Amino acid sequence: MPAQKKRVFNSMREQIIAALDIGSSKICCFIARVSESDDGLSYRPRVIGIGHQVSKGLKSGTVIDMEETETSIRAAVDAAERMAGGSPIHDVYVNVSAGQPKSSFFSVEVDVAGHEISQLDIDHVLSAGQKNLQNEDRFIIHSRAISYSIDGVAGAKKPLGMFGDTLGVKIHASSVALSPLKNIQTCLNHCHLNLKAAVLTPYASALAVLVPDEREIGAICVDIGGGLTSISAFRDNEFIFGEVLAVGGHHVTRDIAQGLSVSEVRAERLKTLFGSCLTDRVPARDQIDIVQTSEVGQEQAITIPRSMLTAIVAPRVEEILELVRDRIIETGLADLAGRRIIFTGGASQISGLEELARKIFSADWSPELRGDFHIRLGRPINVDGLADATAGPMFSACAGLLNYGAESPDDVHSISADKVKIGIFSRFGLWMKQNF
Ligand SMILES: Nc1ncnc2c1ncn2[C@@H]1O[C@H](COP(=O)(O)OP(=O)(O)OP(=O)(O)O)[C@@H](O)[C@H]1O
Ligand SMILES: [Mg+2]
Repeated sequence: MPAQKKRVFNSMREQIIAALDIGSSKICCFIARVSESDDGLSYRPRVIGIGHQVSKGLKSGTVIDMEETETSIRAAVDAAERMAGGSPIHDVYVNVSAGQPKSSFFSVEVDVAGHEISQLDIDHVLSAGQKNLQNEDRFIIHSRAISYSIDGVAGAKKPLGMFGDTLGVKIHASSVALSPLKNIQTCLNHCHLNLKAAVLTPYASALAVLVPDEREIGAICVDIGGGLTSISAFRDNEFIFGEVLAVGGHHVTRDIAQGLSVSEVRAERLKTLFGSCLTDRVPARDQIDIVQTSEVGQEQAITIPRSMLTAIVAPRVEEILELVRDRIIETGLADLAGRRIIFTGGASQISGLEELARKIFSADWSPELRGDFHIRLGRPINVDGLADATAGPMFSACAGLLNYGAESPDDVHSISADKVKIGIFSRFGLWMKQNF
């Protein structure tokens, strides 16, 4: 666990926090107790309440029917509250996938006149960076100082106490379109919930599934959900990239429904029970029973070779993985974030995905990658108290929201960072007084 800033605990040295994952397939609420570790440096959430509900009123993470979304949110939150002992929650950490999340980077420099770099200098350079964050249509959801430079030499991790003439900072800003975020906030308010912080879905998933070494050395996390696939990257313990692609497990289900003329409910079942993305691994003699629905609504039970199902599933999963690979190449993440990918999210459970990903992310299949990637599947590992049924990869984003709430990282400017912002500006005022 990285070094943490001190947080305020009640007399029992613990806090209750709540997370709400608004996904395209399910809405999930986790309530957790966060206790300070003995050394006072880490805060590991222990889940005490869980509620999840099929999500209604959303399409690919975007609210399309507020009433339906609110009903699903209320049901998930009610169940979690009851399991946690009945006290109502108010503040929630919520994930955001809508509004075409985008990562951008910029650097700013300030003059520190050769003296020892103080916290006020660091605040000054971060405040200077804030000016670059203003954007009328897009909301900056996270803005993290990902590295510092002194006199143009990059790589300073902790510039505090060092000497130099100029102090620079590289900032990673994640932005989303404002309207979808406002719609989520309005739904929450109608449910008497307060948006404590909005967290980008890929960021939350990575917090849940990456081990500390992966966060430090560099790793990419890919959450394949129902309607969306999100990509995030960490390096030097910092969130350095987050993006969402509009493809996921639902597309596989829809392909099966269309290709085999079955209902979506039946297609979903066929996918999870018999689907595979390895065409050469399904024995030719394997047969499955399906119930087809004709155009006039008549149902007919037939038996088909299982390879027919695989021939539908495999190309779609391959397409999703290739889209992810292309983004990793286009954005330079292959060089920036190391050569390790952790797949999570409900649809990462499609049989054979890990092996197919290993093929696609190899230099043989994709020479542009210039080397093989290490691939593993991930599930939430950084929270305690999850039962087997809720410890699977589909709960990574929700668990990661708890990790975010427990760590409460300092954003240079964010929806959650009003206090931090005030902190920076008040210290900035002092810096002005001391230096001019
Ligand atoms: N055992 C399984 N095998 C294959 N696919 C599965 C399995 N379990 C769940 N899925 C698929 O996972 C998808 C849902 O994943 P998840 O719960 O992570 O999505 P979500 O968070 O609700 O949606 P999103 O992240 O896209 O907004 C569905 O398409 C579902 O069919
Ligand atoms: Mg999800």
